[in-house]
Amino acid sequence: MMKDAEKGGFGYVVAWKSNRMGRNMLQAMLNEERLNEMGIRVLYTEEELRSRIVQLGGRITADYAGRRPMLVSVLRGSYIFMADLTRAISLDVTVDFMVVSSYGAGTVSSGQVEIKKDLSDSIEGRDLIIVEDILDSGNTLYYLMDVLRARKPASIRICTLMDKPERRTKPITADYVGFVIPDAFIVGYGLDYDERYRNLPYVGILKPSVYGK
Ligand code: IMP
Ligand code: MG
Repeated sequence: MMKDAEKGGFGYVVAWKSNRMGRNMLQAMLNEERLNEMGIRVLYTEEELRSRIVQLGGRITADYAGRRPMLVSVLRGSYIFMADLTRAISLDVTVDFMVVSSYGAGTVSSGQVEIKKDLSDSIEGRDLIIVEDILDSGNTLYYLMDVLRARKPASIRICTLMDKPERRTKPITADYVGFVIPDAFIVGYGLDYDERYRNLPYVGILKPSVYGK
C-alpha cells in the first residue's frame, strides 16, 4: 500500500478509501502528510466543488429556460468541470470542445494563444456558454471571444469555475463564477501543473517551492 505512495502516485488514496478498517485517525494523518509532501494544500474539497457546481447549473437552467445553449469546453483544464456542470443543467444542451494552449509548462501565461483543436459544429445563431477552468490574465478568453464572435453566435457568456481577478490584464469578466480565488497557483479537478495533478478530486494550492517561484 505504501509502495505506491512512495513512488509518488495517488494509489494510496484508492487504497485508503477501499480499506474500511483503515478509515481511522492514523490513515487520515498519513493522507494529510502525503499532501504536504506533494506540496499541496486543499482549497476546495470535493463536496464544496459539487455543491457550488449544482448552484451554477441551477442558475444556468433558470437563465436559459426555453433555450438550447451550446456549452463549449476549453480543454484541457475544464474537462472535469464540464462533465459535472452539464449534468447539473436540466436543459436540452449540446456540447463541443476546443483545445487551446497558452501556458506550456510554466505557471505564467506567455500571452500566446493557439487553437490546437477547433469546434466540430457551427455556432451560428447559437447561445454559447464558454466553460473554463480558470480565468487568470484573461488572455485566452480575450483572444477566443474575438474568434468566436466572428462566427456570429446569437450570444456568448462565460462560465468559469475559478476566477483570479487580481491577475487580470485583459478586460474580460465571467458571467458565471464558481469561486473567486487569490493569486495562487492551483491544481486538481482538471487543473494541472506541467500536466500533473489533473486527476485530484479536489482543488489545492500548489506551494511555490514545488514550482520554484
Ligand atoms: P489566462 O489566459 O491567463 O486567463 O489563463 C487561462 C488558462 O491558464 C487556464 O485555462 C488554465 O489552463 C491556465 N491557468 C491559469 N492559472 C492557473 C492555475 O492557477 N493553475 C492551473 N492552470 C492555470
Ligand atoms: Mg492549463
